[in-house]
Amino acid sequence: METKEALRKRRSCRHFLNKQIAKTDLQQIIWAGNTAPVGMGKYQNIHLTVVQNTEMLARLSSECAETWNGQRFDPRYGAPTLILVSAVLEKEPTAYANVACVVENMHLMATDLGLGSIYLWGFIKYLKQNEKLKCDLSIPSEFEPLSALAVGYAAKPMKEHDSKKLKIGINFID
Ligand SMILES: Cc1cc2nc3c(=O)[nH]c(=O)nc-3n(C[C@H](O)[C@H](O)[C@H](O)COP(=O)(O)O)c2cc1C
Repeated sequence: METKEALRKRRSCRHFLNKQIAKTDLQQIIWAGNTAPVGMGKYQNIHLTVVQNTEMLARLSSECAETWNGQRFDPRYGAPTLILVSAVLEKEPTAYANVACVVENMHLMATDLGLGSIYLWGFIKYLKQNEKLKCDLSIPSEFEPLSALAVGYAAKPMKEHDSKKLKIGINFID
């Protein structure tokens, strides 16, 4: 897939089939994360945790459930693969930016592979507070989970981005 096509097709998927992704696809997604730009090249300050174990996924969904209009909902939308991205929080605030680059690269690779995926941040606040869950996920103690990518097969087709429409404000200094 060409870059422009992947950019057009990348959407946040919130409906997944109950079907696991292929190992080869997972490897490519992880590789894409590893090609992301990271401040001062400090890749050692980022850590990925790939969760595909159904019991752990159910536990994450229940212990980190989000609430919308008074209703609890599954923050990973039933996706069969969840990739948590953790970082060593340093004095400078680049950790969040680094993690965002890693997640976005994996999001685009998932799109390229014809998979559905979504950048997740909201439920992380519950995970951060849950020391037992972080420990059971074997997230190294010096790392803090900051974001995640949920991946699977999209249950329904997603609308592509308009190839002309601009949504972000802009000014030019000529
Ligand atoms: C930093 C960040 C955090 C996000 N967190 C969540 C989240 O917790 N839950 C969710 O459903 N979507 C989340 N999203 C997805 C956005 O809602 C989505 O990207 C945006 O509405 C644009 O839609 P699109 O991705 O389909 O183009 C997040 C996106 C980003 C970049």
